[in-house]
Amino acid sequence: MKVLEVVTEAFQFICTVQFWRMAVLWTLSLIFSFLKLFSHTLFLSKSKIYSGGSPQEPKSKAATLRGLPICVITGATSGLGAAAAHALSKEGFYVVLVGRSSELLSKVLSDIRSQNNDACLKAFQLDLSSLKSIIKFKSSIHHWLIDSNIHPSIQLLINNAGILATSCRITSEGYDQMMAINYIGAFCLTKVLLPLLENSPVPSRVVNVSSFTHWNVWDMPADRETVSGTCFLKSRCYPYAQIYEFSKLCLLLFTYELHRQAGRAEKSHHLSVVAVDPGAVKTNIMREIPSCISQMAYIVLNILGLLHSSETGVRAIVDGALAPPEISGVYFFGGSGCCLKSSALSHNVKLAEDLWVTSCDLFQELQLAS
Ligand SMILES: NC(=O)c1ccc[n+]([C@@H]2O[C@H](COP(=O)([O-])OP(=O)(O)OC[C@H]3O[C@@H](n4cnc5c(N)ncnc54)[C@H](OP(=O)(O)O)[C@@H]3O)[C@@H](O)[C@H]2O)c1
Repeated sequence: MKVLEVVTEAFQFICTVQFWRMAVLWTLSLIFSFLKLFSHTLFLSKSKIYSGGSPQEPKSKAATLRGLPICVITGATSGLGAAAAHALSKEGFYVVLVGRSSELLSKVLSDIRSQNNDACLKAFQLDLSSLKSIIKFKSSIHHWLIDSNIHPSIQLLINNAGILATSCRITSEGYDQMMAINYIGAFCLTKVLLPLLENSPVPSRVVNVSSFTHWNVWDMPADRETVSGTCFLKSRCYPYAQIYEFSKLCLLLFTYELHRQAGRAEKSHHLSVVAVDPGAVKTNIMREIPSCISQMAYIVLNILGLLHSSETGVRAIVDGALAPPEISGVYFFGGSGCCLKSSALSHNVKLAEDLWVTSCDLFQELQLAS
């Protein structure tokens, strides 16, 4: 009976447009990205490869009382986020792990400590789909920095948390959950943490975890309904693959717009912003997809040589985090230390400005409501 249920569920799943969109378009865009990377590395001088190992500032120079730069990582309870927390704690960061579940946070904390006893770690609970939770987090981290006698600033924010939701769910604020977590949450968190990033006595950085799937968005309006995802809630079949692609494109547009704005601001601090794309990585991201289908996808990607483990996939995040401070407004792909040009749409300045305005409106509305 159980086997029949599993087969029926898998069959129904592969009979959907969204499945074929992922199976065909996502695989093609991944192959396309690797081909771009290959041709890029053939002609690129070694000096343009920023492969981990050169922290933004010598650790001793970071003006925090503990002498360590502070790095905040969202979605640190699983996959790439947990791997990034591990890798960056080894690079000498004081890592602030952020996640929804206190049990999962404690587990990741003890896993890291079991391999690196000297790791400086702190965990906070945060649900990125709620602005209330984001504002509470800002206040908690601020108090923690003050109480611990650490300079009230952070040096690195990694917007990593993300989901691939196959069914339509609405947040308490009335938004599509996938857009709320993958994009709006990252935007709002960056906005509320900006004063701490700008207060850093050494260059600070925002790293946004995007995806090669953004290549499949050819057109998008940046209006309120689309950005909050409410327009998708009316669809008869929830277009989850498109929403995921769209949320990752929004992160790229946001990265480039924040970079432009940081460049314009004539302040003494230096804030850089980069997007990173780990490629295809075996994590829990496909948890809502029937497991026989996700296992099959991993087997195919592995045979094609396109699949990373989270330990290798995390290199793209580490590259983005450790690249020199003057590197900003770029898109790291695949963990080879190389920056690629993302899609033409992601470089559309007018679209990025419209998205910024809409996102700020949503942020203000949420602030008023909470
Ligand atoms: N895996 C890939 O092939 C791939 C490729 C390109 C880009 N990415 C991107 O990489 C990022 C990390 O994904 P992953 O592959 O490591 O997936 P994952 O293993 O599923 O990790 C996702 C993380 O996001 C957290 N999260 C989900 N909803 C949240 C919420 N409301 N508030 C706070 N945290 C929340 C999860 O926490 P819980 O444990 O509490 O659910 C989990 O820690 C995502 O942005 C994803 O889009 C992944």
